[in-house]
Amino acid sequence: MIIRRERAPDRPEIQAVIEAAFSSKVEARLLRELFAAREYLPEYSLVAESESGEIRGYVISTRGRIGTAPALGLGPIGVLEKYQRQGIGAMLINATVTTANAAGENAIVLLGSVDYFPRLGFLPADSLGIASPDRSWGSHFMALPLSGYGADTRGQFRYAEPFNRLSK
Ligand SMILES: CC(C)(COP(=O)(O)OP(=O)(O)OC[C@H]1O[C@@H](n2cnc3c(N)ncnc32)[C@H](O)[C@@H]1OP(=O)(O)O)[C@@H](O)C(=O)NCCC(=O)NCCS
Repeated sequence: MIIRRERAPDRPEIQAVIEAAFSSKVEARLLRELFAAREYLPEYSLVAESESGEIRGYVISTRGRIGTAPALGLGPIGVLEKYQRQGIGAMLINATVTTANAAGENAIVLLGSVDYFPRLGFLPADSLGIASPDRSWGSHFMALPLSGYGADTRGQFRYAEPFNRLSK
């Protein structure tokens, strides 16, 4: 298994992975919009590819803000069901974290399972002074402080624009 950046011909396979991983079409639509958004960052669009060339997992992080400080918003992330629980999700997240730390990013923020992301180091965002766009998310709204994290990494988190259209 290797983790690498997406290439243009991967797009249909990536969309299929995300569609299969989630029970609703919402995430696949969000992903299509993120690909076209100005907050898209190619270095944070990562596939997990098997030796046979099959894309088995995918993660994207896009430009967001904590107050006025830049930060990454992670998601969607998905792994094909038959390959889950083999560490692919952790590999995709760790690759994101390594790239982001090397780039001096402040933090990665996400909305996700409290059973999964804390084991990868994510903390409740409010414990870091990062406010959620939606209070009802509670402890599911998490953040991982990175190499650039500092006193100004505080305030309201804003996702890339396509996330704002999710509820519509
Ligand atoms: C979440 C996801 C990306 C994790 O990928 P993965 O390759 O299975 O993850 P890993 O192998 O690194 O870790 C697996 C561990 O995390 C746990 N885990 C995985 N997904 C979980 C979830 N959604 N909720 C709670 N625990 C989860 C498993 O129990 C497993 O632990 P165990 O082996 O001790 O039982 C994958 O399960 C997935 O695509 N789920 C459907 C889409 C989704 O829910 N995306 C994320 C939104 S929170």
